[in-house]
Amino acid sequence: MDELIEQIKTNLNKPIVILGLMGAGKTKIGGLLASSLSLPFVDADHEIEAVAGCSVSDIFEQYGEAEFRLLERKVLSRLISHDVKVIAPGGGAVMNEETAELIWNQSLSIWLKADIDVLLERTGLSDKRPLLKAGNPRDILLDLMEKRYPVYGRANLVVNTDAQEPEVNLQKVLKSLADHLIERDNQSL
Ligand code: S3P
Repeated sequence: MDELIEQIKTNLNKPIVILGLMGAGKTKIGGLLASSLSLPFVDADHEIEAVAGCSVSDIFEQYGEAEFRLLERKVLSRLISHDVKVIAPGGGAVMNEETAELIWNQSLSIWLKADIDVLLERTGLSDKRPLLKAGNPRDILLDLMEKRYPVYGRANLVVNTDAQEPEVNLQKVLKSLADHLIERDNQSL
């Protein structure tokens, strides 16, 4: 375990960006990943709320999704261009072309992928997601899967996060990250 972490820390030279649908575990696992690597963790939605001075739900309600995406792009562009850290943007960030370019070009991206029932169970625990209030959450998530999975599929790594225990999912992320960085290192020899 310690060896895995050392390997990652030695080879990581850009920010990690966590992708995935609402409920996939971006904030939870991203936070655990950051603390196990002794790196800062930033939840981009929290940064956006700090800049806007109101909640994500309020931004959607008062200004609309397009305005939110604009703010999201600005915040991510600032976050990505600084030191190595773990960043968890909202699940839709990568659907904006310019934000996506930043992520593909300047970060190591990890797609956290979970089953529809797992996503529903996790998102059902909070009412903070404006997109899921517009209709039946299962239908909305299935529709988002169809639209977003081809884009998430461009991530450097894909890790299944169906397990209930965040620690189990974290181990999978660490293993996948270490394998990727070692492979990349070997290729550059
Ligand atoms: C969104 C996901 C949310 C938040 C906003 C829009 C999306 O973040 O950014 O409600 O488009 O998938 P989480 O993915 O962290 O829930």
